[in-house]
Amino acid sequence: MSMDKKKFWENKIQTWEKDRYGIGENNSSVEPGASNIAGSSLQFRFEKAAEILKPYVDDKKILDLGCGTGIFFNELQKTNFSHYTGVDLAESAILEAKEKIVGTEKENKCSLFSGNIVKFDFPDCDVVVSLGVLDWLDKDEITELFKKTYPRKFLFSISEKRASITRLIHSIYVYLAYGWKSEGYVPIYYTTDEIIEIAKAVGYKNIKIFRHPRLRFGTFLYSLD
Ligand SMILES: C[S@@+](CC[C@H](N)C(=O)[O-])C[C@H]1O[C@@H](n2cnc3c(N)ncnc32)[C@H](O)[C@@H]1O
Repeated sequence: MSMDKKKFWENKIQTWEKDRYGIGENNSSVEPGASNIAGSSLQFRFEKAAEILKPYVDDKKILDLGCGTGIFFNELQKTNFSHYTGVDLAESAILEAKEKIVGTEKENKCSLFSGNIVKFDFPDCDVVVSLGVLDWLDKDEITELFKKTYPRKFLFSISEKRASITRLIHSIYVYLAYGWKSEGYVPIYYTTDEIIEIAKAVGYKNIKIFRHPRLRFGTFLYSLD
């Protein structure tokens, strides 16, 4: 595929974040209660992810793969993590994220890099998080990611392949909005079994699944014990 994925995300991610999350006046906080359905399910994804992580991240270093402009950092403030590293393909998003934290108290607790998470050498970290990103990777890339993640704790979200009206609407929306011109670069829906099989093959054993109506067809897979 000749598709330039970096360019694709540089053109998309910042507007996507603003539409989905509504960014606060200081351009860093998620505004509660964004009116669109997709936005509210993604805000819920942040809240729930932080809630699930909370008991496991005291004094831990968190790596956020495909972090966009690093908004999840704000949600993690509800936990007692020690350091946050965000990585994203979109250099423009990382530059914006860096600008937001310069001179703030967040600066010492946060490192940001642009790069491809499949090729990037992971920094020293205890817990790996990735929200809304596995959908954009093929199975070989997901395998590579799990190999790099193991044996650390992880919490990943997927857009689950299961019978769902909202998932059907989502796939139609994706095609109409950009799928017809993005040379097949669209989110891939995986079953939990497909991802668990990959995770088990690299050594993970106890993988939990979390679904919630407010996540719609989004599902967390995690191993945090
Ligand atoms: C749907 S957005 C999710 C952003 C953020 N995690 C969230 O939940 O709001 C997907 C993000 O993954 C990034 N991404 C996709 N493929 C990537 C790759 N191979 N390496 C690094 N980042 C990637 C995109 O640039 C984009 O910021």
